[in-house]
Amino acid sequence: MKVIPIASACTRTLNAAQAVVETGGATPVTADAWRLVGAVEACFDGKDCMGVTIDSVKVGLFRIGGEIYALDDICTHGNALLSDGFLDGHEIECPLHAGLVDVRTGKGTAAPITRDTRCHEVRIDDGNLYVRVSR
Ligand code: FES
Repeated sequence: MKVIPIASACTRTLNAAQAVVETGGATPVTADAWRLVGAVEACFDGKDCMGVTIDSVKVGLFRIGGEIYALDDICTHGNALLSDGFLDGHEIECPLHAGLVDVRTGKGTAAPITRDTRCHEVRIDDGNLYVRVSR
């Protein structure tokens, strides 16, 4: 597995390039396909939202208190990254048309978003953030 630490990328501002976590091929390092994103504090660096690409899937990560949620980052309504949006409580507001998604469930909660967003599993182990992309 080729892991590019995202710590330096986590200080991004809106629309900055996403960090990339890719495997070196089709074979995952672990059978359960958890991917190391990086140290939690370094990744978020005081922010609530960040985006990362894991195995070619754009994933938005959202931190609310001590919880972190992972969703497909591309809005189901159009070509916008939810991680570039605005987190208010448990809802992320899409930066393009202001649709809302509950980051806990991926459920679209306000128009124009009518389709739910796929969720991914998150695990924190020894201060490191891991994501398992849903297939
Ligand atoms: Fe997200 Fe339109 S692109 S609400």
